[in-house]
Amino acid sequence: MSDEKLLYIETFGCQMNVNDSEKVAALLKGEGYTPTPDASAADLIIVNTCSVREKAEHKVYSYLGRFRGLKRERRFLLGVGGCVAQQEGARLLKRVPWLDLVFGTHNLHLLPEMVRSAEQGKRRAAVDFIDNETRLDLFPRVDDGGGVTRFVTVMQGCDNFCSYCIVPYVRGREISRRSAEIIDEVRGAVAGGVREVTLLGQNVNSYGLKMPGELTFAGLLREISAIDGLERIRFTTSHPKDISPELIACFAELPKLCGHIHLPAQAGSDAILARMNRGYTRQEYLQKVAALKAARPDILITGDVIVGFPGETEDDFLQTLSLMEEVRYTDIFSFAYSPRPETAAASLPGRVTRKEATERLERVQALQREMTIERHAGFVDTCQQVLVEGMSKRGDQLYGRTGGNLIVNFAADPSLVGSLVDVRITRGFPNSLLGELAPMQ
Ligand code: SAH
Ligand code: SF4
Ligand code: F3S
Repeated sequence: MSDEKLLYIETFGCQMNVNDSEKVAALLKGEGYTPTPDASAADLIIVNTCSVREKAEHKVYSYLGRFRGLKRERRFLLGVGGCVAQQEGARLLKRVPWLDLVFGTHNLHLLPEMVRSAEQGKRRAAVDFIDNETRLDLFPRVDDGGGVTRFVTVMQGCDNFCSYCIVPYVRGREISRRSAEIIDEVRGAVAGGVREVTLLGQNVNSYGLKMPGELTFAGLLREISAIDGLERIRFTTSHPKDISPELIACFAELPKLCGHIHLPAQAGSDAILARMNRGYTRQEYLQKVAALKAARPDILITGDVIVGFPGETEDDFLQTLSLMEEVRYTDIFSFAYSPRPETAAASLPGRVTRKEATERLERVQALQREMTIERHAGFVDTCQQVLVEGMSKRGDQLYGRTGGNLIVNFAADPSLVGSLVDVRITRGFPNSLLGELAPMQ
């Protein structure tokens, strides 16, 4: 009889968690677990969680609730990792009695041992932050993901303490991974067929600054750009306060660096930006945007916006709308402010009512929808270079992305997956573009 065990991972939250889930799968392979897309067949279910907003946290509890009955029907282990795990620790074991193990954002490496204990019936929570030396040695590295594009973690944690944000509390202090290791991982990925890498961190712009002798982020980009066979480089996320002239110059100097940047402003009014502890004014933000557009005139900019931050007046809010229009984002993620445990903003006066926040969110979204549609329509009849990533869900088209990070669907031969091709855009939709393969020149 085979002793193969099946592992199902459900991932909530950001790319950090997606990357960590890949790492979990790799670690548990060593324990005899093979990934399955079918939770109902799994011997071990791991839920990787997000607590950035209250809603995200609630989603985790309702998701875990589903397994209560199932646990009575058949034997399997249930584990929770990620940011809610970090935030709640052993309290989660109490609150969810059918849970077998809880591991925090610094404790992935303990998972094999914890799973072994859980197999013996021992319930455990491990959420201690670990020292920097150990952290440096434990950066998630994914070598066998396959595919055309790959995320590569360059830093973890965050020291910015934006007043609304729980990330510094659940991910810990900022730490930059050794550049030699990053470059080595990218080389390995490229040798395995990867054509595009996205360098990942909560605030990549401050990469290396606190590590004596380390490259700056711009220096790292230049080194990676020199790797033969790699076609494209992206990065996310950038904090506007830390984007340096040296980094902006990379958009002019490095052809492999894609013409897209995610540069969250969060708000358009100086009063709100100050209370958010963002470290820049509206004018400083707009100056950085102008410098980026000067370095790469076709750069596409996306961002994040929070509405209903404590004390946000109608006038503050109108300044967010006008900032969006000035920048002309291709797209944004927009959120209603959600108070988070431990954060400074949670105790600020001037709560905006839910009704008001929802109404502002709708106005932000309506404006962005309009700008996105107009932006997408502007690409019709242009020719875009697209890196083909795979077959579309419908199965009759290929899909890929432009340098500006727009998704393009087009009919062509599947053998083109992994290639850079020229596509003439024929239609713009709210979330993607449609095109046709341009004839070979
Ligand atoms: N490190 C990244 C993003 C982290 S979280 C950055 O700084 O850009 C992703 C987004 O969630 C943030 O940019 C912010 O817009 C939003 N967000 C974070 N905390 C929030 C909160 N308490 N309420 C509402 N939105 C929040
Ligand atoms: Fe949160 Fe601010 Fe850090 Fe981004 S930069 S993770 S919003 S504290
Ligand atoms: Fe969520 Fe944690 Fe990412 S809180 S957004 S999964 S860092």
